[in-house]
Amino acid sequence: MNETLSQIDGSGRQESMLVAAHLSKRYEDGVLALDDLSLAVAPGEIYAMLGGNGAGKTTTINLFLNFIDPTSGQAIVDGIVTHEEPLTARQKIAYVSENVMLYTNFTALQNLDYFARLGGQNDYSKEEYRTALLRVGLQEEAHGKRLRDFSKGMRQKCGIAIAILKDAPAILLDEPTSGLDPKAGLEFISLLDDLRSEGKAILMSTHDIFRAKQIANTIGIMNEGKLVMQKTTEELRGENLEELYVNYMVSGMAVAS
Ligand SMILES: Nc1ncnc2c1ncn2[C@@H]1O[C@H](COP(=O)(O)OP(=O)(O)O)[C@@H](O)[C@H]1O
Ligand SMILES: [Mg+2]
Repeated sequence: MNETLSQIDGSGRQESMLVAAHLSKRYEDGVLALDDLSLAVAPGEIYAMLGGNGAGKTTTINLFLNFIDPTSGQAIVDGIVTHEEPLTARQKIAYVSENVMLYTNFTALQNLDYFARLGGQNDYSKEEYRTALLRVGLQEEAHGKRLRDFSKGMRQKCGIAIAILKDAPAILLDEPTSGLDPKAGLEFISLLDDLRSEGKAILMSTHDIFRAKQIANTIGIMNEGKLVMQKTTEELRGENLEELYVNYMVSGMAVAS
């Protein structure tokens, strides 16, 4: 935690691609969904936010995208405060939501083309679209099929392909493995590993402890809007994350690591 704060408060700010600095969000109805969250994700790093329903994970991601404004604090992407320059900040982010919103009357290839063009990328070839779809594990037979015939997992893969084509330095994933079967889940983990090797900064929310442990460099446990634990995978070696998770959930105490 101290390291995170020194990166935020000191000159290290630029070293992190994604920074939450004392970020809080109180919704209009009075719910304090996020309470003084500070975290940082550097290029080539995967940070997994673990937490049950209502912990504040989606709120955090939506603040980074400036879909909502913070009540206090800042979400910073590549040095840009997202609520000050939302459009510039969003250009740095590829985002996959829990329920991927794509055109069900379009084929997979048409969706990729549509969203690439929407993002200002007009020069991708059909071959490049096919390569992206294969990379996320969507078989050739499915490329020309309309999305209305796709499973949730296949739509998810399509969304991830779109995110990859954006080639942004930061990737935000909200519950990315929730619609995936075990095989697709495994392929997805290996894809995340590749993206990390390419230097992407990846922030994902999940309630899947197993996958978080498998892939993340740093794991944060959130409970009722607070970051109650943050540890690197090295710090977690020899520890029982499942047990820690349950303990933090039960006690709900905020502990700086
Ligand atoms: N638009 C909203 N208006 C009011 N309260 C909200 C809104 N979105 C989320 N919340 C509340 O904020 C808290 C955190 O929600 P959320 O960020 O979606 O958690 P998570 O993604 O971890 O399940 C919950 O108590 C939720 O009910
Ligand atoms: Mg959520």
